[in-house]
Amino acid sequence: MKKIYLLFLLSLIILSCKTTKEAEIGLVKDNALVVSARVEASKIGADILQQGGNAFDAMIATKFALAVSFPFAGNLGGGGFLVYRMNDGTTGTLDFREKAPLAATKNMYLDSMGEVLPEKSRVGALAVGVPGSVAGLFAIHEKFGSMPMEKLIQPAIDLAKHGVVVTEKQARRIKSYQDLIIEVNGDSILFSNTFEKNDTIKYKALAKTLEAIKERGKDGFYKGEVAQKIVDIIQKNGGLITLEDLEKYEAVWRDPIVFDYKDLKVISMAPPSSGGVTLAQIMKMIEPYNLAEFKHNSVKAIQLITEAERRAYADRNYFLGDPDFSQIPENVLISSDYLNERMSSFSFDQATPSSEVSHGEVEIVESDQTTHFSIVDQFGNAVSVTTTLNGAYGSKLFSEELGFFFNNEMDDFSAKPGIPNMFGLTGAEANSIAPEKRMLSSMTPTIVEKNGKLLMVVGTPGGATIITSVLQTILNVYEFDMGMQEAVNQPRFHHQWLPDEIRIEPNGFDMETISTLKNLGYEINESNSRIIGIVDAILMLPDGKMEAGADKRGDDTAVGF
Ligand code: GLY
Repeated sequence: MKKIYLLFLLSLIILSCKTTKEAEIGLVKDNALVVSARVEASKIGADILQQGGNAFDAMIATKFALAVSFPFAGNLGGGGFLVYRMNDGTTGTLDFREKAPLAATKNMYLDSMGEVLPEKSRVGALAVGVPGSVAGLFAIHEKFGSMPMEKLIQPAIDLAKHGVVVTEKQARRIKSYQDLIIEVNGDSILFSNTFEKNDTIKYKALAKTLEAIKERGKDGFYKGEVAQKIVDIIQKNGGLITLEDLEKYEAVWRDPIVFDYKDLKVISMAPPSSGGVTLAQIMKMIEPYNLAEFKHNSVKAIQLITEAERRAYADRNYFLGDPDFSQIPENVLISSDYLNERMSSFSFDQATPSSEVSHGEVEIVESDQTTHFSIVDQFGNAVSVTTTLNGAYGSKLFSEELGFFFNNEMDDFSAKPGIPNMFGLTGAEANSIAPEKRMLSSMTPTIVEKNGKLLMVVGTPGGATIITSVLQTILNVYEFDMGMQEAVNQPRFHHQWLPDEIRIEPNGFDMETISTLKNLGYEINESNSRIIGIVDAILMLPDGKMEAGADKRGDDTAVGF
């Protein structure tokens, strides 16, 4: 009896320790915040704001700085998306996604038997899409910049010349991809050297490329000497990009996907990213339920979100692609009528097998490794920016002369309908390859409003898991009443229709929850994914201050004032 009493006492003590544990609070500032994958980049962005620049100026400076300090995903040789909200409530987006080269063909990654050659779209020059990052930054500057472009590039040039200190995580990342990098480039490039934690890497060639952009603007990258060097290395290695491809590249301003979730207004990226549409579908499917009542990461909450994700990803893979090439029934896909019908087969009693969930019946009428940063400036403008090389260090193709890696974004096309890409996403005709087409993305830079006011800026890398990580971060704040850092810290899970499994972050979910989900028919995969997403977000607080959520899964850091 005494033993039982002691055990009871012990569990009470453990329980009270758990419930009284203070939630972690992120950096809180009065005026402005920049949250990005590297402290150097966040600091450069925040310095620009402190000099009187706006969120767009800071975005440009931060992005150039990430190209230097975060070669894993920050880039000149990739592309991305910007979602913005001005202090007067105006919203918009910029698409600076890579494009297929003019010489690309639908079956370019198939062998003579029609089988997919996955390596060709993932590693080396044939995997490279026409880069959009530099064009994107100039388009943003032209429309919203308030400081001279030279002032916004200079800090990145200085950073490249002085060098960047290698973090422990970076040293680990370089080591794990180095064999492949050497296989593609040989062993006499910058990244064939051994780097340890606290070493400093100087990026002299990259500094010169940035100087060329500073001097000649967009043409410093897309025309002339730099362009010729890009074409030379890509073509020498069997790729397709020509001078004409580079010269023709333009970023595109697009309307955002905007939808309500209860009393929130969510503003996110439209196709060619699937992010906004898929996020809208999932949130609208769970909207009729009282999620907060189910409790965070409970069996019922995981079930509901999983079943909505399953149905939304089935649609994503079938309907979405580049809107300049295929007609996308966006309005139908995010309508409540359609989504209620999609969820009519859902029951808490058991899992719906993905084999029973195909895409919905929507008639198309004739007329288809990444990094994120969030900024709120001292004027109340907000930008949410996700950019990518696709895989870690992209295609692994590195220009020693220019100092940067090229993307492997061509793998985000569906090489052959029904065959999964490197994120396991299975695409369809809407995302097939065509010259000058943009490949479908999952990037989900997002801004959330409540009662007409800015509430949150959020986004993450993570391939297919981007959308579900953004979703869970918003829900953690709104439904489960968490602060920004607390919301970012929570363990995450992910379902994407196929493969039919819930991926969970190891050690983040209790055994009882996992075993109940298994009994309900859910396949749980705890091994395939060390982390899900690296979210960088900002939450506006009721007292007018703002709190950053900088994800500790990476080296991510917030800087502000
Ligand atoms: N390359 C990852 C994405 O665009 O979703």
